[in-house]
Formats: sequence, structure tokens, C-alpha cells
Amino acid sequence: MLDVHQLQKIFHAGTPDERIAIDEVSLGLRRGDFAVVVGGNGAGKSTLLNMLAGEVLPDDGHIRIDGNDITRLPTHKRAKYISRVFQDPSVGTAAALSIEENLAVAARRGARRTFGRGLTGTMMAEFRARLETFGLGLENRMKAQAGLLSGGQRQALSLLMAVLREPQLLLLDEHTAALDPKTAEKVMQVTSRVVSETGLTTLMVTHNMSHAITYGNRLIMMQQGRIIADLSGEQKRGMTVERLVAAFDDESHLLAAA
Ligand SMILES: Nc1ncnc2c1ncn2[C@@H]1O[C@H](COP(=O)(O)OP(=O)(O)OP(=O)(O)O)[C@@H](O)[C@H]1O
Ligand SMILES: [Mg+2]
Repeated sequence: MLDVHQLQKIFHAGTPDERIAIDEVSLGLRRGDFAVVVGGNGAGKSTLLNMLAGEVLPDDGHIRIDGNDITRLPTHKRAKYISRVFQDPSVGTAAALSIEENLAVAARRGARRTFGRGLTGTMMAEFRARLETFGLGLENRMKAQAGLLSGGQRQALSLLMAVLREPQLLLLDEHTAALDPKTAEKVMQVTSRVVSETGLTTLMVTHNMSHAITYGNRLIMMQQGRIIADLSGEQKRGMTVERLVAAFDDESHLLAAA
């Protein structure tokens, strides 16, 4: 599904500020994979996601989705392939628009023909039904402005907006990091439900080690612009928070998994 081959990104090359952000990273995701990416500050996680989304152009390497080379495709042309949810709850939603208006905008995004300005009853019923499954009461506040929602409610809305047009790949960059622990748990549960219901191929960055071992079927560790481990199956299921934290200092802890 996703094929990242020998991706390279050096910021400020040839200057004293030179930074190798991504160092020959190769990564393959199968359809339906839910890969969680962990790594310290500056490991290159956001740069990798930015290159997938088209916001940063790689110096070298290829990105393919279902065989289509999107390495240098402009961001707006990737929208049909890729959706993102960011760390800041205010980024994904328009504060002045209501929940239903935000969802209508997301539903129309990338559509060749607009549905007209009005919302159809079918669309409304679908939005409401999907919000109801989140268990956050959003389905009863369809006319409330997004700016009035809590951070967690807003992230849940952003998530639904991101998946409404069924992208090929969902990118989540620390989308629970700005939330209090309880709300972060709730948004992760909503995320897990949305990902499993849609079967979307997902790449999620987190600093929450408990989320990293609990969610997803792949666990990818990054350090200094490289992927130092890619665990799945028994290795992923056997991982503990303690071992994962220890593995960043000493990779031999990875071998102890499973
Ligand atoms: N636009 C940029 N210009 C210059 N350097 C950058 C730029 N973006 C990232 N970098 C550098 O590239 C490296 C990787 O940064 P990146 O933001 O990808 O890390 P990260 O793993 O997402 O970290 P964090 O956990 O703090 O979000 C860092 O050294 C960073 O300073
Ligand atoms: Mg980052």
C-alpha cells in the first residue's frame, strides 16, 4: 500500500546548521496496517509525516501509494490519498463553523461536484450516527460552534472529518498530546474504533508509550532520522512500557520482547 524507499532529508545542507532529519528511511505498510511511531524529540517523526503529506520535499528517495509515485506531488493533489490530524485541536476544525458545517466541508473536500450548499438529510443522519458511536455527546450538539467544544471533542471531530472521504492513508501526529490524560484515553479509544471500522492504513506518532504498546499492529522506533526497530506480531504484543523505554538506550531490550 505505502512504499517509502530510501527517503532522505537534510535541512540547511552544507551550512553549520546542517541537520540530517531523515536518513535513508525505508518503510512499507500493508493495507489496514496501524503503525505507531515512537522516538525522542528531533528523531524525525514529524519530518517523515510531512514528507508523506507533501509539506516537506525529500532530497532523495521515493514515496509510492498503491504503486503511484507521489514523492513530488503537490499537497492538494495528495488530499485524495492522505488525511492528517495534528496535535493542536484548533487546526483541524473551523472554530466559527458548527459541527455539522465542519463535517459538510470535510465531506465536500476533493469532490468533483459540490453537493450544493445545503446539507442533505442523509448526510446529517450519517454524521449523527457516526458521532454517536464516539460516546462524547457530539451528536446532540450538531449546531454548536466547533470553537466552543473541548479539546478532546474537537480532536474527535477532526478525526471524523479526516476519515469522511476515506483516504488511503491516515496520518496522526501526536494528536492526543495536547489533551489531559483522561481525554487522551478517550480520543485514543475513538481513534482505535474509527481505524478498525474503516480499515484505514494509519501512521500515528506518539510520545505516550502506553498508547504505543496498546494500539496498532506495528511499532516503529525512530532515532536520529533512522528507523531502529519495526515490531509486529508477537514482538509487538510482548512489548512492555519498561522495555520500550529501555530500548532507546540499549537496543538489546528489543530482543527480549515476546
Ligand atoms: N523546517 C525545518 N528546518 C530546519 N530543521 C528542521 C525543520 N524541521 C525539522 N527540522 C529538524 O529536523 C530534525 C527532526 O525534526 P522532527 O520535527 O521531524 O522531529 P520529531 O521526531 O517530530 O520531534 P518531536 O518529538 O519533538 O516532535 C530536528 O533536528 C529538527 O530540528
Ligand atoms: Mg514532531
